[in-house]
Amino acid sequence: MTEPVGRRQTLQALIKHVRFLLTFPLTSFLSSCLNSSFVQAVTERPKGEIMNQGISTHTTDPYRLPRHVVPIHYDLRLEPDLSAARFAGQETITLMVHQPTSAIVLNAIELDITSAQVEGDSGSTRQATIALDESLQRCQLTFTAPLTPGAWRLTISFCGTLNDKLRGFYRSTYKDERGATHNLAATQFEATDARRAFPCWDEPDFKAVFATTLVIDPTLTAVSNTRIASETLAGGKMVLRFAETIKMSTYLVAFIIGRIEPTELRMVGQTPLRLWAVPGKGHLARFGQDIAAASLSFFENYYGIPYPGDKLDLLAIPDFASGAMENLGAITYRETALLVDQQSATHSELERVADVVAHENAHMWFGDLVTMSWWNGLWLNEAFATFMEMLAVDAWKPEWKRWDSFGVSRAAAFSVDGLQSTRPIEYPVQAPKDADAMFDVLTYEKGASVLRMLEQHIGPTVFRDGVRDYLHAHAYGNADTNDLWVSLGKIAKQPVPELMNGWIFQPGFPLVTANVSPSSELTITQQRFSYLSDTKPSPLQDRRWQIPLQIRITAGGKTNTSRMLLTEKDTTVPLPKGWESVLLNEGGHGFYRVRYAQDLLNRLLNAGIDRLAATERFNLINDAWATTVAGLMPLTDYLDLTARFTAERDKNVWAVLLDSFSFLNRIITAEDRPYLEAFVRGRVGSTVADLGWAPRSGETEGTKQLRGELIGAQGKLGNDPAIQERAAALYRAFRTNATAVDPNVVPALIAILAHTGDAARYDEFNEGFRTASTPQEERRYLFSLAAFQPKVLLERTLARTISGDIRTQDAPFLVSAILGNVYGRELAWGFVKTNWEKMDHLFPKQGLRRMCGGIVNLATPALERDVCEFFNSQRIDLGGKTLEQYLEHLRIIVAFRERDGTMLRHYLQASL
Ligand code: BES
Ligand code: ZN
Repeated sequence: MTEPVGRRQTLQALIKHVRFLLTFPLTSFLSSCLNSSFVQAVTERPKGEIMNQGISTHTTDPYRLPRHVVPIHYDLRLEPDLSAARFAGQETITLMVHQPTSAIVLNAIELDITSAQVEGDSGSTRQATIALDESLQRCQLTFTAPLTPGAWRLTISFCGTLNDKLRGFYRSTYKDERGATHNLAATQFEATDARRAFPCWDEPDFKAVFATTLVIDPTLTAVSNTRIASETLAGGKMVLRFAETIKMSTYLVAFIIGRIEPTELRMVGQTPLRLWAVPGKGHLARFGQDIAAASLSFFENYYGIPYPGDKLDLLAIPDFASGAMENLGAITYRETALLVDQQSATHSELERVADVVAHENAHMWFGDLVTMSWWNGLWLNEAFATFMEMLAVDAWKPEWKRWDSFGVSRAAAFSVDGLQSTRPIEYPVQAPKDADAMFDVLTYEKGASVLRMLEQHIGPTVFRDGVRDYLHAHAYGNADTNDLWVSLGKIAKQPVPELMNGWIFQPGFPLVTANVSPSSELTITQQRFSYLSDTKPSPLQDRRWQIPLQIRITAGGKTNTSRMLLTEKDTTVPLPKGWESVLLNEGGHGFYRVRYAQDLLNRLLNAGIDRLAATERFNLINDAWATTVAGLMPLTDYLDLTARFTAERDKNVWAVLLDSFSFLNRIITAEDRPYLEAFVRGRVGSTVADLGWAPRSGETEGTKQLRGELIGAQGKLGNDPAIQERAAALYRAFRTNATAVDPNVVPALIAILAHTGDAARYDEFNEGFRTASTPQEERRYLFSLAAFQPKVLLERTLARTISGDIRTQDAPFLVSAILGNVYGRELAWGFVKTNWEKMDHLFPKQGLRRMCGGIVNLATPALERDVCEFFNSQRIDLGGKTLEQYLEHLRIIVAFRERDGTMLRHYLQASL
């Protein structure tokens, strides 16, 4: 159903039509609920069988709800008890029944449902028998006689626990300035956890209107998706009634209750904007508020549609599983992603806040106003928000050159998409676990990369107009990938599906190989890129993409750009007389890798790589490294190539170089490590010396960042004693005067001192963690505790990840960091194996999944065997293809070591 974008008259008319007066008694019902017995009749049924009785459903998927009963409006009332960690709830859902039915099936899990009844037009009520199926996370309400088609009102009473798993309706805690602990209740429903807070039709295309009432302790504050409609005191409780939401998906509902404080309100067009934090942190909200305001107006302009909510609150929650969540009008964040001190933060920390805030604001349209029909289409939400985040941040701070650093995100997507166990961007999803696994670099970074490629191909204005058309056409509704193609194709007047389907529905991406024929023709060939060579000749090799190709040819000192769409396996392009060099993927927007024949590469290098734009140099070195890992380029050639970058001053290009050096650090033996350290010092040293330790006037943000990165690399990977000494001295100066060191250099100092640190340093940094004055500082010190070398110190950090001492939002990432520390990886792996069950129980699901990503560092054949053995014997499933991808990644690194390890040692020894 398409609704006019202006407001939601149609829906409101429908609700009036069904004539239900939605009222609740204002008395507390928490106590009665707490004592009730758990009504749970788990039916004995083979898993997977559809629960409804003989009624046709739209699907045979056991995880999908039948479609013959559709919710229209939820009147939701919740009463949390923060200290008891419980909540009671009552909801009245207005339903349309489309076929006679004696059963209503909806989602619920870990809820104690105490009663359910329906009321029809006649006003008489009918009680339901309640059956919960924990494995399918649903609840069946059965009636003795069928409900007739039409409108019904379903009232359900329930209660549950405010859990500590950072999902559903959960409890977060924090300490105030005096050390007293306070509780906060918050929600995180995406992907499938609204059902943990209230029984509901918890699928993105069951959109409905939500009217939330929160009954809270009057000393607390509460925020939900919309403005407060009324506030009354009753029975010692504060009853907050929130205005109706727009028609939206369940996963976007949110409520936050606690001692939280808002910033001053800022009007952005018609929208009141505020940030919220626990007391004492409000002074860190300024930067977030600036980008929130800037991106909100940017999006209103870009989309050509007003912000769809009635206000916008951004809340920093002390315990938060992901980075942020786009609940309409009540966006929640982890503290590091929203609160920041502009004076002491590094450029990347500021950029992170700007990115996340812009990303979530972008979702208010992409995701909230128009939502993917099902989780297989998650990229329509996340890839778009990621793409829009770049546009908005780039418009806000053009000097940050955000699209240049986007190369790093594209590179991250390439590294997963080069696996044989990759998946297409759009991929079937059934179980909740698989929905969770969709939140990965393929959805986000590959998705955003192919959107950027398309935008550049059809032109930014045409692209924007296509986006506007799509949003207008599906506002308040759901859409699929094809709907987007229809809108873009209509405006672009081009066959968009033919171009794009290959990128969305096929796994992997092309490697474009460029050769020159004896008759001076450029021959271009596409084949699927893969790190591991394919053993069986499979359709894998035959895949084709339509590749928007941009080629720059230099001849007689002049350059000429040509664009073409590569649709065949092989293409030839005539080269002009006297051609000097050829560059493929000019501008660097294409989602493909390039491999040059030796002669072509030499010509590019000899012309001077400074002739290439930063993104082109980035791609050149990144593609060279990837082809080296894939065994298509000799390692020695790659290592020689890195010597050409001594004059490089782009931080993203350096990021690729440094990344490849740490890769080598992971496969090298301890005895050979000193050779690698010397090699790194050789590559990095002159630039470190040139940049010095303090910024020069007029320097770009990028250079400041580069200085920090290179000093860090020289002190750790290069193990340079002079740098380490200087770092210690500067850190002392910094502790007495925080402005003595450029903020971008501070993390490098801390990292170097942890790398060389002893127990005293550990205690010092631990104290830094405990007494940090910003979320970024806290995070920096916390992660330094994973970067020490002595095993006893790393053991201390590991023990603390499961002792309750470190927030579970961070603990799995800390374990992962120790897995990535060559001095601690085996220790960490042993710890993971021993404590797996505890971690599985303690950590939020997505944290656990990310922690397992750390296994790719266990790069010896023996460890690899052990890793495979463990995951197989424990039958661990991380959802989707996650585990398969980690294991293949590990295989690639170990295979590289087996193939090139000896060559690496010889090269390093010889280059001393
Ligand atoms: N919708 C996601 C939040 C989310 C992530 C929910 C994973 C469920 C599972 C949100 O919009 C998001 O993408 N957050 C990112 C930050 C963003 C800037 C890439 C995150 O949490 O990392
Ligand atoms: Zn997102």
